[in-house]
Amino acid sequence: MLIEMLDVINVILSVSFQYYRDVVVFGLRKTQNTGQQGTMPILMPGKDHESDQVMVTTILKMTRKSLAVGEGIVASLILSALVAVDLRLFCRVWILSKLMMGESGLISMVGVLCVLVVWWGWKVLKWIWWKPKKLDRLIKEQGIKVTPYNLLMGDLKEIRRQSIEAQSKPMNLSHDIVPRVLPFHLQTIQKYGKKSAFWFGTNPRLYIMDPDLIRDIMSNKFGHLAKLKRNQILGFFLSGVAAYEGEKWAKHRRIINPAFHMEKLKHMLSAFYTSSTEMVSKWEKLITLEGSCELDVWPELQNLTGDVISRAAFGSSYEEGKRVFKLQDEQAELLVQSFSTAFIPGFSLLPTKRNKRMKKCHKEISAILMDIINKRQKAMMVGEAKHNDLLGLLLESNQKEIQENKTKNIGMTMEDVIEECKLFYFAGQETTSVLLVWTMIVLSMHPEWQVHAREEVLQIFGKNKPNFDSLSHLKIVTMILYEVLRLYPPVLDLSRRTYKNIKLGEISLPAGIEVMLPILLVHHDHEIWGEDAEEFKPERFAEGISKATKNKVSFFPFGWGPRICIGQNFAMTEAKMALAMILQRFAFELSPSYAHAPTTVLTLHPQYGAQIILHKL
Ligand code: HEM
Repeated sequence: MLIEMLDVINVILSVSFQYYRDVVVFGLRKTQNTGQQGTMPILMPGKDHESDQVMVTTILKMTRKSLAVGEGIVASLILSALVAVDLRLFCRVWILSKLMMGESGLISMVGVLCVLVVWWGWKVLKWIWWKPKKLDRLIKEQGIKVTPYNLLMGDLKEIRRQSIEAQSKPMNLSHDIVPRVLPFHLQTIQKYGKKSAFWFGTNPRLYIMDPDLIRDIMSNKFGHLAKLKRNQILGFFLSGVAAYEGEKWAKHRRIINPAFHMEKLKHMLSAFYTSSTEMVSKWEKLITLEGSCELDVWPELQNLTGDVISRAAFGSSYEEGKRVFKLQDEQAELLVQSFSTAFIPGFSLLPTKRNKRMKKCHKEISAILMDIINKRQKAMMVGEAKHNDLLGLLLESNQKEIQENKTKNIGMTMEDVIEECKLFYFAGQETTSVLLVWTMIVLSMHPEWQVHAREEVLQIFGKNKPNFDSLSHLKIVTMILYEVLRLYPPVLDLSRRTYKNIKLGEISLPAGIEVMLPILLVHHDHEIWGEDAEEFKPERFAEGISKATKNKVSFFPFGWGPRICIGQNFAMTEAKMALAMILQRFAFELSPSYAHAPTTVLTLHPQYGAQIILHKL
């Protein structure tokens, strides 16, 4: 109870802090930069703001000192308490009241304080109670059932509780993974139906499981939907085309697209091959005289996909690229740790140990990438041989965009290019290793399909190096990869928010509503996939995706519509290459020490690793 009360107080005070930041600090900064009034209501026009600045600086110094002692609730309480009463507004009102009423201004100051407290109280009440209740009513009017609203946290606590419980023990060897991976969402849908919603903090989030509505949302024809707002820490971690909207997104997507064309992927095949060769050679060395060895292939495959993207993105600057990616791994870990406080407005801005480390990583990554890009640009200027890696292709396409539009402002800036390079790693490494690890696990569970896949590989390449055209002829391998993506999609759900009123089928939604497209639930939906939805049956995809889905958007591991994954061909080619090379050399089965435990850590991980016994062929 005490903790809950502290949580609530903490959040309330953090809102004060955010207001303070937006209005006071940004207001002052704007004042400094432009010499004009910031976003504050102008109570004393023409007055200089030096004294306010001194005051704010002193407060910041004090709070920083206290923050050095420790992060979390105590620090944010002190900070928020200091700024809860907006000092700048308060001082101005005080001066004004003194001018107007002389000494009796002191009395009016108390009055102003009371007004401020009431005003703040109202704002908080509106945020945590009135707005959720209003949205609750609006949603119910549309015939959508909603879970009961719990003050401030909504269903977040229950989601966490159920996940921890479900993931406290492994499951049996089956593909019926939804109860373990998304227990809360499964139960909510079972209880309230597919037309329902839950509370993500103070925001209701609607489940969208109807393939026609998924199509409408993902095609975003009228541009009324956008990605969810990210908090600032996430911004430090991940930006680039995946995060942008509107014009900026369109420009970046246009410039990046050519780098991922099939034709260009051909040049990256040697990167896929080199990295896969390194991995399988290492595995061969581990094999004992008896011809087999046990290995946790999960870290191996993560390493493989990191290596691939580093080579494919940076070519000759591969080593520097690897350093960048190491730092990004650290950032991902920090990000996961920050989830428990992510919904608190302004928390990501506090100078906590974690936030400071995040910023430091961000700086170092930018410096390394800046250096690589500078070298590349110089090489391009003196007409050195073309680089066929992602960075080279991106810079080339960017230059083309600038030349065609005859103005420098049209292309991407250096910072933009840096963000895109960072994104390639995060978007491409994690997801592809997840695809590969589940493929190895599933093929160990279904040895008959492993045999089919190997026969196909040996028939097409023998023991030779796989080439690009033949990789595209791997039909059984492709069916297997699709079925693994259906049962174990690396990205479990996608979310969007309405920023204008919108009609989705029968439902009219106001602006500001969040919708969730639970990929995992749709991929396991018995109404869509039949009673055997939980079974591994690659033959579903024997005649391609559109036949398997009857042209519905019921299989979308790479998203759908204009924002579909830019790297899907890259990922599929990489996965085929790695899998073909593994199948050429090894037969594999699950070790008795393997525990089947799919879990979510941003993407769908094997919780205790993937212990597999490799037999040399
Ligand atoms: C199995 C591997 C992969 C999976 C399952 C996957 C999944 C996805 C999904 C679901 C989206 C859509 C996100 C949304 O609509 O909100 C997406 C977007 C994206 N992916 Fe992938 N991805 C994979 C591999 C890759 C690779 C290898 C790269 C690059 C090297 C990449 C780069 C991107 C980018 C840049 C976007 C953003 C596109 C945009 O917003 O216009 N992905 N991915």
